[in-house]
Amino acid sequence: MSDCDNCSHDNCSSCSSKPEPTEQETNIESFLAQVKHKLIVMSGKGGVGKSTVAADIALILSNKGFKVGLLDVDLHGPSIAGILGLTGIPLNVVGNKMLPYKYNDNLEVMTVQGLLADNDAALIWRGPVKIGVIKQFLADTQWSPLDYLIVDCPPGTGDEPLTVVQTIKDAKAIVVTTSQEIALADVRKSLNFCKLANIPIAGIVENMSGFVCPNCHTVHDIFKSGGGEKLAAENNLLFLGKIPIDPQIVESDDNGDPMGKLGVETNSALENIVEKLL
Ligand SMILES: Nc1ncnc2c1ncn2[C@@H]1O[C@H](COP(=O)(O)OP(=O)(O)OP(=O)(O)O)[C@@H](O)[C@H]1O
Ligand SMILES: [Mg+2]
Ligand SMILES: [Zn+2]
Repeated sequence: MSDCDNCSHDNCSSCSSKPEPTEQETNIESFLAQVKHKLIVMSGKGGVGKSTVAADIALILSNKGFKVGLLDVDLHGPSIAGILGLTGIPLNVVGNKMLPYKYNDNLEVMTVQGLLADNDAALIWRGPVKIGVIKQFLADTQWSPLDYLIVDCPPGTGDEPLTVVQTIKDAKAIVVTTSQEIALADVRKSLNFCKLANIPIAGIVENMSGFVCPNCHTVHDIFKSGGGEKLAAENNLLFLGKIPIDPQIVESDDNGDPMGKLGVETNSALENIVEKLL
């Protein structure tokens, strides 16, 4: 790059072969330059709580006074609008910019859900279209300057997470897992994906770890416990913490009030995860 910038040859083959950045690339670059920290929430496994963890971390950070953007790139199964109670509210467009939802003074949210005709509409999109849409979310959304951009990915290592890591080059990953081997086997693939994509891992979260039984008051390890912690240790990664199985999480997510009714233990587990992240 710098060689070409200073190159004074009229017909230099390496300079002239470099395409000018597109308007979209320039817009993405200028937005990302104003974001201090970028975090991608991912997992090789579906249903382990990525969206819940992404929404709760975003909410806690915003309540601490940080400016946070939450971007849902799960185009086929967007959950963020539901978790935050934003379903049925269409996104506004001004000029050629989409206005993100303002969840509170500090939290802005962007999701494909706000562009769908109805909540149950299915998107039948192939790779190139999905890549284009994710880039548009970054380039054509009127985000404020952010302290944190948190990206909620679909499960696995497909087009969506790949587009995110290739576009947001200085991002870090938060990897969510549950404790059973079936989940951990898939999550190891996410760790390798991050390695190949040169994305550092901010830490691992073990979700649905232990259930405090209201009947017998002992902890039942329904999905086992300690697997995420062990995975972090084996890979020399930061273990961010365990979140228990809490029926109130389901209730709060379903009601669009993600941390509204959480018990003390769940709340402090989430707070501790954010403290470690900070
Ligand atoms: N610790 C928990 N205790 C109880 N229920 C939980 C917990 N974490 C998440 N859930 C519930 O599990 C379900 C799946 O969570 P979520 O949608 O966050 O997972 P996901 O990994 O984003 O799923 P997907 O792979 O489909 O994107 C939701 O109903 C959510 O409320
Ligand atoms: Mg999800
Ligand atoms: Zn019991």
